[in-house]
Amino acid sequence: MAGDVIVIDHPVVQHKLTQMRDKESPPHEFRRHLREISMLCTYEVTRDLPLTEREIETPVGPTRAPTLAERKLCLVSILRAGNGIVDGMLEVLPTASVGHIGLYRDPETLVAVEYYFKMPEDVDERHMFVADPMLATANSAIAAVSRLKETNPLSMKLVCLVAAPEGIEAFHGEHPDITIYTAAVDSHLDEHGYIVPGLGDAGDRLYGTR
Ligand code: PRP
Ligand code: URA
Repeated sequence: MAGDVIVIDHPVVQHKLTQMRDKESPPHEFRRHLREISMLCTYEVTRDLPLTEREIETPVGPTRAPTLAERKLCLVSILRAGNGIVDGMLEVLPTASVGHIGLYRDPETLVAVEYYFKMPEDVDERHMFVADPMLATANSAIAAVSRLKETNPLSMKLVCLVAAPEGIEAFHGEHPDITIYTAAVDSHLDEHGYIVPGLGDAGDRLYGTR
């Protein structure tokens, strides 16, 4: 069973993604574009969230109006680069809880190695959005989602920025039930497991570590 992939092809998102791909973009601009794209993508990834109603008084009179059950959300950052997406999503969903899972990709084997895991206690009462800009081999996302499923969230979605076809296939081979949201599906992976054309190492470009 193939899983769902939703490509967010809005022109403003695509424009900002091109600026991020440009190797001349310094970390402060890369961070700003990722934050802004993530704010825009939040609109799409939260489209089917449940609403409740509450009584309010407008200046003209009482009414019942829809409101988001916002406290029932959990944004999860796959460290480090997931922080760039979560920062943007938090601008739009400021009361969401945040979890972190630390994973790095072994440069030789490309296997994901976990070094940190901290989630809100009531995560089983929350809709979860797992964030990582790059879906390359998908080893990191597969490991993260496998671990996070053990916490029993109400629902789960994967939010990324650039995905490789190989990563999408591998991810849905393991997790066909999880919808992938991405701004682009690129051409392929190179021999080092980097997405082509991609944008390079997202963590390094966000934080200027190389
Ligand atoms: C990058 C990226 C993803 C992972 C994607 O993280 O942010 O987590 O690689 O590659 P994969 O799909 O092949 O697993 P990295 O391991 O470089 O860690 P960092 O964010 O700490 O730099
Ligand atoms: N991780 C990144 O940051 N970029 C890639 O292209 C692949 C893995």
